[in-house]
Parts: sequence; structure tokens; C-alpha cells
Amino acid sequence: MSIASFIDTPAAQRISFTTATGPWQSLYRQLLDEPEPGHPQAKEFLQDCLQEVAGLRSDLPASPYELAAWSLRRHQRVTTEYARYLEERRSGQGRRFFPRKAHALHFLRAVAPTKLVDGAWLYGTLPHWRDHRVYPLVRTYLEELGDGVAEQNHVLLYRQLLASQGCEDALELDDALYRQGAIQLALGLLVDEFLPEVIGYNLGYEQLPLHLLISAFELNELDIDPYYFQLHVTIDNGSSGHAAKAVQSVLDNLPRVGDAQAFYERVMRGYLLNDLGVGSTAVIDSFDLHQELLHMLECKRKVASQVHSDYCRIEGRTVNQWLGSSGDVEGFLQALQRNGWIRRDRDPAESRFWRLVQGQGAAMFGVFSPYECQLLHDWIAGDWQQQVEQGRPFRARRTRAAANQPRAGEQPGELDRERRDMVRQLQGLDAYRRECRLIELQSPAQHWSSAGLAATRTFTGLMLQPR
Ligand SMILES: [Fe+2]
Ligand SMILES: [Fe+2]
Repeated sequence: MSIASFIDTPAAQRISFTTATGPWQSLYRQLLDEPEPGHPQAKEFLQDCLQEVAGLRSDLPASPYELAAWSLRRHQRVTTEYARYLEERRSGQGRRFFPRKAHALHFLRAVAPTKLVDGAWLYGTLPHWRDHRVYPLVRTYLEELGDGVAEQNHVLLYRQLLASQGCEDALELDDALYRQGAIQLALGLLVDEFLPEVIGYNLGYEQLPLHLLISAFELNELDIDPYYFQLHVTIDNGSSGHAAKAVQSVLDNLPRVGDAQAFYERVMRGYLLNDLGVGSTAVIDSFDLHQELLHMLECKRKVASQVHSDYCRIEGRTVNQWLGSSGDVEGFLQALQRNGWIRRDRDPAESRFWRLVQGQGAAMFGVFSPYECQLLHDWIAGDWQQQVEQGRPFRARRTRAAANQPRAGEQPGELDRERRDMVRQLQGLDAYRRECRLIELQSPAQHWSSAGLAATRTFTGLMLQPR
């Protein structure tokens, strides 16, 4: 299925965050829903974050004129480390990030709040597209939006990636995982006041990190489409891509009159905002299969403790009794193993419990989401899976099937209504209001909808018109 048709499918609509439970998640939600420039909560939050990073050390060079060389050195270091990684893999070492598929799915879910607002920190640059100093940042934002082509829109690509792995269920995630996304959204609403910080944040975010290369490689090995990650390797490149544009933006905006050093210090602080929240590597390192399984079963227990029949008893206790109180999940798992319901370190198909969950006519089919099934599967399979993997030869990269070629966003009939309505709405507006409306529709919450994509295409066209 192409993404153009994907945006209107139930799978895409289902990707939603659970009702906000923590402060960062509710701020994240609020900034998505109220994308007002100068948003007061965004400002308060951003000021707190800037205060927090004020004491951190930065690896940026002392002079902005050394940034291009710094970016190049950093890039070279990453590619050298990646070459070493590939060498290790060729010589038989296992995957560094994702030994099992559950680990990879955990990662994709945990970084979703950040990836689903990809580019948001640059949203506020749009009204300034006529200013040559800001133009490269506007271009970067529009490229994040795929210039209005669904198949190239980064947020849509990530939504499709989640859906393709059955992870489009409500994301119940730790509040801390929303902090980086909230920072991005806040910056996007405060560009007018915090332009140096936005430029600094952009400088950090658009450099190629090692984890991106390794993630793309290992996702591919696990048959998870790595395109979203591969795309960022190419689009953020340091010679003409977002990383180069980011360095150029610092220099283009450096004041010729006034305090250039003070400006650059603000850039450095913005750069350090990348260190707040939970980064990709920390997410990967935090995964513990056993704990994640227990946590998942504990959540299930709360809704499932009274739904089992008393017919089946394990060590004299009914399933309802086992699931009746908190903290017993671990004991229940052990009892299932002692009684042969679960046989670990073997093909899960040999476990009676697994056969209840998965397969034709499974009694508990649909109880667990695909991610939850993967946790259970990988936990049961244990060493067996590792042995199976070792027998397989090292797999080189595959390129993506050509099925998802960019297409114009128009769709037939009712599916195209939103776009047609938008075109009609725009026709009734004068040039200034039309541009404002187009910008509204390109906000982080809207740009990936069909009206948002059409607005992006119109806006991109407007920028190309002779002035
Ligand atoms: Fe992106
Ligand atoms: Fe980028």
C-alpha cells in the first residue's frame, strides 16, 4: 500500500498516544494542539530547559568559523566507527543494538514521540521564508515534510513503519520519552524569540549519528523496513544535506553588527538541548526483555484477572487466582515453566502456552498486540533463537523495493474531499491570509494529513514563483 492511501487508513488513525499521564506528555499534547507562535507554556518550559543545559559542556568549537571542519571531522569519525562495526559483523559478531526483534520494536515505540514530530523545531521559520538567512532552515523543514509528497513525509513514513510492525496500538510510554519531542515543539513555536537556540538545536539534531547507521542496518536484518533511517543517512548528509545547511545557517545568521559571540553562545545552548530527554542510545541500552515482559503481563493482569474460567488449574490455583494480586506475575511464569506450559530456550511452537496465544484457532488469539507477542516469543525462544541466527550467514543490506515511488497526493472521490475543500477555502482568501492558512496547515500536528500535504505542495510552489 502506498503512503498516499495509507494516511486515511484506520491503521494510521489508530496511532495515538494514551491520555496524557505525565507533565511532559501533556505539554507535548498541548503544543501539538495549540501551535500558537510565542506559546506561553512553551516559553516557560524552554527557559527551564535552557537553564538546565547552561552548565553542560559542549563539544562545539570555540569559533563558529570552525564549524564546517568540526562537522566534517565528526562525520568522518562516525563513518570510520561504522566501518569497524561492519568489520566486526562480518567476522561473526552478533547484532550490537537489537539481538532480538522485541528489542527493535521496543526502540521504535520508545522513540516514536520524537520521530512523530520530526522537524517540528523549524516550524516557526515558515513565515520568514523570504529572508535569505532563514531560507535554508525553511527548506530543511519542507524536506522533513517531503515537500508535501506523502511517500517522502518523514512523520508519515514513521507512522507507516509503526503500523507495518503492528505497533499502531496506543503508545503507553514513559513520560520521559516525551521530553525531547516537547522541546522540538516548543522551539518551533518560539523561533521569533529564540532563533539562535533553534539554529543551535538544528545543528546538533542534523549531524549524522552512529546509532542511525547501525539501527538501519540491524532493522533490515530483522526484516523491518529501514527506509526511515536510511533516508536520514542521505538527507542529513554533510556536503549538501541538512547537516551542511545547519552549519551554513549559523554563519548566515551571525550578526555583523552587535555581539556575534553572545549570538554564538546562544547557538551553543540550543545545541545542548539535544542532550535532554532520553536519546536513542539510552533507549536501546535500557531494554531488559525479562522486565519488559513482566511489566507487560502486569498491565494485562489488571484487565484480565477475572476473565479466565476456573476450569484450568496450575499447581492447584486457578488462573484467576494467579492473576488476582499484583507481584504474582513472576511466580505465575515460573509455575507455567515448572508444569511444562512454557519450555524456554526452544522453538516457541513447542510451548503449549505459546500455542494458546498464536496460530490457527488459538484460544487467546488477539489478547496480545504484535509487540507483546514478540516480547513473549523472544523470551520463550531465548538461546534457541540465538543458535538459529548463528547458523545464518551475515546479511548485507537490501535496497528497498521500488513500490513506494513518490506520487502526487491526489486521490479519487471522497478521499480527496479534504484537499478539494482546502483549495476552495484558499480561493476565498487574499494573498496574506492564504499564506497564513497554508502555514497553519503545515503545523506538526497537521502537515501529514491530506490537507496538510496539499498545503505543503502549494506553499513549496509559492516559494518557487518569481518575485
Ligand atoms: Fe527527518
Ligand atoms: Fe533532517
